[in-house]
Amino acid sequence: MQQDALALLARGGVRVSAEALASRRLAVEDEGGLYRFVFVKPADVPVYVEHGIADCGVVGRDVLLESGTDVLQPLDLKISRCRIAVAAGEGWRGGRPGVLHVATKYPRVAAAHFGARGVPVEIIQLSGSVELAPVLGLADCIVDLVETGRTLAENGLAVVETITESTGRLVVNRASYQLKAEAVGALISDLARAVAEREEGRERVTEGAA
Ligand code: PRP
Repeated sequence: MQQDALALLARGGVRVSAEALASRRLAVEDEGGLYRFVFVKPADVPVYVEHGIADCGVVGRDVLLESGTDVLQPLDLKISRCRIAVAAGEGWRGGRPGVLHVATKYPRVAAAHFGARGVPVEIIQLSGSVELAPVLGLADCIVDLVETGRTLAENGLAVVETITESTGRLVVNRASYQLKAEAVGALISDLARAVAEREEGRERVTEGAA
């Protein structure tokens, strides 16, 4: 998502030098000196923004749903499109009674999904390589991100149900949205224009190929 977000920002006129990106510095300025970027793990993006350390952030909807943080989401950047899905292997026992064991990096999303359907579950929280859990017998199914579907297929799993779609979002701190309205508003409109231009370009390519 970082590459896609930086490409979009560049299209919107905010550029970070190749030298800054190649460095190990975790906080760098854009070429115009107007913005400072901090590079953090996805789950930490809403934390920095909610606390106002960063005025704005770029993060997936999946992370926002799981974090439950209180930040504004003014713009869908339409990058890193994927879905959060329930997946399982052959012999999926979803319809059978009893507690369903669900492995996931998204415990809140998974609990809410099965809770809404009245399905009793035990959530097994993992940090990654979630697809291994049903294969090795740790869980009946997983709730995980699916982009191309390749990881599922190569581990003998398939999507049982899509829970929701996810794309990269611009998030904004509530106070910054008011107190830095001009700067934040300018960034939102520059990015909104960049998203629209990129989408128009894609449509033209698709139409040209048709
Ligand atoms: C994500 C996700 C799946 C994979 C899906 O994992 O958790 O494992 O990507 O992509 P695909 O549908 O294109 O195969 P990530 O790369 O974040 O690694 P992780 O398993 O260590 O979390």
